[in-house]
Amino acid sequence: MKAGFYQFRPVFGKIEQNLTRIVKNLSNISADLIVLPELPYTGYYFKDREEVRSLSEELSSSKIIDTLSRMCKKNNYNLVTGFAEKYKDRYFNSAVLIGPEGVIHTYRKLHLFNHEKNWFDAGDIELSVQSVRGVTIGMMVCFDWIFPEVTRCLALQKADIICHPSNLVLDYCQQAMITRSLENSVFTITANRFGADERSRGTLNFTGKSQICSPRGEVIYRAKSDEEILYITEIDPGAARDKLITENNHLLSDRRPEFYTDISG
Ligand code: ACM
Repeated sequence: MKAGFYQFRPVFGKIEQNLTRIVKNLSNISADLIVLPELPYTGYYFKDREEVRSLSEELSSSKIIDTLSRMCKKNNYNLVTGFAEKYKDRYFNSAVLIGPEGVIHTYRKLHLFNHEKNWFDAGDIELSVQSVRGVTIGMMVCFDWIFPEVTRCLALQKADIICHPSNLVLDYCQQAMITRSLENSVFTITANRFGADERSRGTLNFTGKSQICSPRGEVIYRAKSDEEILYITEIDPGAARDKLITENNHLLSDRRPEFYTDISG
């Protein structure tokens, strides 16, 4: 499977401009799966919920989703993209899996980071996996990384690749994702943005360094902190199905959940 990410610098509030940039850079390429950052059309550093309201779209009537669906069909690939999702009178920081036939699944960020709690509603849908070209795909969004339960749940559902649209502002995630990959034996693709959202309330900087990690915790590729880059590589998703870390240690069946009751409630 040819999989990778597109790291770029969205301009806050310029939905059309950001979408055009993505379309231009993701056209006429050969891939199976490309991961885009969190909130790549709107930008991230909102003033308030009202501003989220003015920039969010319903999936069913979104020009962004329509454009991306046509792009997936034309190029015969799948995309996982961040998306500011309006649903009735609620607003979610979502990730959408889109293929040549259109939207396959939407994930709504479960763990909102810092001021996001003032802007968005917390996700209300169970973690789940989808099959794409015989490969099992899971999704999570940015700050979900700090809750190892998320990657573990996706691994228990047999995810081969965890797609991770991000707008990272702290410096820990890229290193932590090495462990998330290793402890679950999964590929992880963290697609981060770079640059800053400069708003009247202040400036928020993002860390770039999008990366792909292997099921053995190797960083297959890590981008620079300030470059625009489309990176695609060939991976063997079957490598994620080997959960033996030694001949006597299986990452999933060696667990002792009867002794972990504290974390289930
Ligand atoms: C984040 O969750 N965007 C830091």
